[in-house]
Amino acid sequence: MADWDPIAEVKNHPDIHIPIFGNGDIDSPEKALAYKEKYGVDGIMIGRAAIGYPWIFNEIKHYLKTGEKLPVPTIADRVEVSKKHLAFSVEWKGERKGLFEMRRHYTNYFKGVPDFKPFRTKLVEIERYDEVLEVLNQIEDKFSGIFRKE
Ligand SMILES: Cc1cc2nc3c(=O)[nH]c(=O)nc-3n(C[C@H](O)[C@H](O)[C@H](O)COP(=O)(O)O)c2cc1C
Repeated sequence: MADWDPIAEVKNHPDIHIPIFGNGDIDSPEKALAYKEKYGVDGIMIGRAAIGYPWIFNEIKHYLKTGEKLPVPTIADRVEVSKKHLAFSVEWKGERKGLFEMRRHYTNYFKGVPDFKPFRTKLVEIERYDEVLEVLNQIEDKFSGIFRKE
């Protein structure tokens, strides 16, 4: 558990006049608002909660501005962003290493999808880029009803 008390101490110090940002354990819009109010920080940074869930930034910004929760990303959103992440990974590190390093992220991108395990197994075993893309397309088709926006 991150200890935010020293952050508040710095923020409330009479001689400190720079913006103070806090971070540690923020993983939802509600928590971001609660910590912002409790500790009086000027900004919040997000680490682990953004891994495989980059939507967290917009979700928090929207909630702080409007008090409303955005709908969660659809399966199509998740497939689109994981394909983009994969493409950057391959572009940066080459096909083999790029595919390999992406493997750890699928669980987070598809968290909450029921019976996802067989697909995850395929994603982490396949060694060709075009085949991974094919499995991602299958995931989009099979789970299209999940996370549907109202
Ligand atoms: C994959 C990963 C890499 C990190 N690398 C660094 C780093 O290089 N330097 C650093 O000061 N903190 C690093 N951190 C710590 C984060 O900046 C952050 O303080 C910590 O994860 C707590 O915030 P969180 O609960 O939002 O993840 C890293 C965290 C993660 C998960």
